[in-house]
Amino acid sequence: KKIGVLISGSGTNLQSLIDEIRKENINGEIAVVVSNKDNAYGLERSKLNNIDAVFVDEKKYNSFELFNEAIITELKSRDIDLVVLAGYIKILSGKFIAEFKNNIINIHPSLIPSFCGKGYYGIKVHQAAIDYGVKISGATVHFVDEGADTGPIIFQEAVSVSDSDTAETLQKKVLLSEHRLLPLAVKMYCEDRLRVEGRRVVIR
Ligand code: GRF
Repeated sequence: KKIGVLISGSGTNLQSLIDEIRKENINGEIAVVVSNKDNAYGLERSKLNNIDAVFVDEKKYNSFELFNEAIITELKSRDIDLVVLAGYIKILSGKFIAEFKNNIINIHPSLIPSFCGKGYYGIKVHQAAIDYGVKISGATVHFVDEGADTGPIIFQEAVSVSDSDTAETLQKKVLLSEHRLLPLAVKMYCEDRLRVEGRRVVIR
């Protein structure tokens, strides 16, 4: 399967995918990495691994739709089968979702449906969990639908939150889970072992 990865930041989730593919644990190849930030270190990671690294500059497009169209073109021109959102902070246009329906996977650093949706990304997710005083948080990998972090859940992993945890220490713990869950979900997808049945994802 041909994979396209969308990023906005450091790309440690992208790195975990690159590493698993290199170990030949995943029957897929990352054909392109697209970022909406030109300074995203994930673009550097891509270049270091001979993967097409493309910065799509939102400011060059007159609308949200045309910006998404530009990304769709980068993906379609490479016959991408699976789109992975790895720390990509923009929402996708309806057309984007339609083009890749049930072939878009996102990793989110909380146990959805807690601490997710518009405005919940990066450290904000963990600060909200700490402020709420939860004892358990974690990571969720899910298919993307029209909503924000609302698509069918593929895997989740729990992380305990201790009294001494801060948003930063919790983020570090949850990232470790993310780096396991995302490659596993992509592996299952590439082996055609994920079946979406309504709201549920069944692993075959
Ligand atoms: C991760 O915590 C991811 O779940 C969230 O943003 C962060 C991106 O990290 N969406 P990285 O760019 O993959 O290191």
